[in-house]
Amino acid sequence: MAVVPRYLEANGLDATPVMIEKLGHLENDEKAEKIIDVLKVILEEECDHVYKGDVWFKYACDVKGLGYEVYFDIIDVYYPGSFPRKKELNIQARQDAGFSCSELKRMNTQAQCKQEP
Ligand SMILES: [Fe+2]
Repeated sequence: MAVVPRYLEANGLDATPVMIEKLGHLENDEKAEKIIDVLKVILEEECDHVYKGDVWFKYACDVKGLGYEVYFDIIDVYYPGSFPRKKELNIQARQDAGFSCSELKRMNTQAQCKQEP
């Protein structure tokens, strides 16, 4: 739950808008427009996948009595050195999917997000 939805799939939330923007530079390209439409659906659905993984990740943490920050320990085992990084995050999509602002700032110190109350 930490690695697949909250890391790998969440990375897709960051990458897909970049692909959409790059393809958007191709003017009058019917194939690019179709791909953009598909990528928009994938992005919307991916947000839901990450959200579901987030719910189950937090449930498992609660059951085990672990703080949610264990996420960073798990990711450091499988993808060492992943955070912090300079790559831009899709803040809105990640927050919609359950990531907290403090997590996002730990992932990218430049993340512009609203701190939760
Ligand atoms: Fe997915």
